[in-house]
Amino acid sequence: MSRRKYLNPKIKEYGKEIIKSDNFKKMAEFKQHGDVSVLSHSLRVVERSLKFTEALSKLHIHFDEEAVVRGALLHDYFLYDWHEKSALHNLHGFRHAETALKNADREYNLTPVEKDIIAKHMFPLNVKPPRCRESWLVSLADKYCSTGETLMGRKKHEQRRERIKEKCRRQKEKERQRIERINRKIIN
Ligand SMILES: [Fe+2]
Ligand SMILES: [Fe+2]
Repeated sequence: MSRRKYLNPKIKEYGKEIIKSDNFKKMAEFKQHGDVSVLSHSLRVVERSLKFTEALSKLHIHFDEEAVVRGALLHDYFLYDWHEKSALHNLHGFRHAETALKNADREYNLTPVEKDIIAKHMFPLNVKPPRCRESWLVSLADKYCSTGETLMGRKKHEQRRERIKEKCRRQKEKERQRIERINRKIIN
């Protein structure tokens, strides 16, 4: 399902039903940010959310971790490639939370907290604020991961550009040396 070697055991425990499903696996085909698929992004958001819950539990702030895992796994369950130009994909940022909720609600028995996590994860872009702490937490984890993935994508893009530039520079230099050799032969 994923090339990740380590998955937080709570993901397997609470998200078993979801991570085994074909539609969930299908998210590997759709890109989210840069080279990161929607599936990898969703797993990152779950892992980050669990890191937050584990840190906050030390301050005696507790969360419904099953809802956090299931809601975070399904928060971007829109199941299409939002980079493809289409009338349906217009305003993706504003609409995909609603689409994800519709899709998830069709396939799973979601609790009110899980529904709220999915529906409100794009706050403040979607203006209705989260109604429970689990939704605030996943929304924050989503922003944290999205920012990291976008910056990582830009960095990779820049590195690729630098590699191409370097390759061109080396080819030019080789060509210059070849011409120099030919000129020397002619002179001698
Ligand atoms: Fe999203
Ligand atoms: Fe997301």
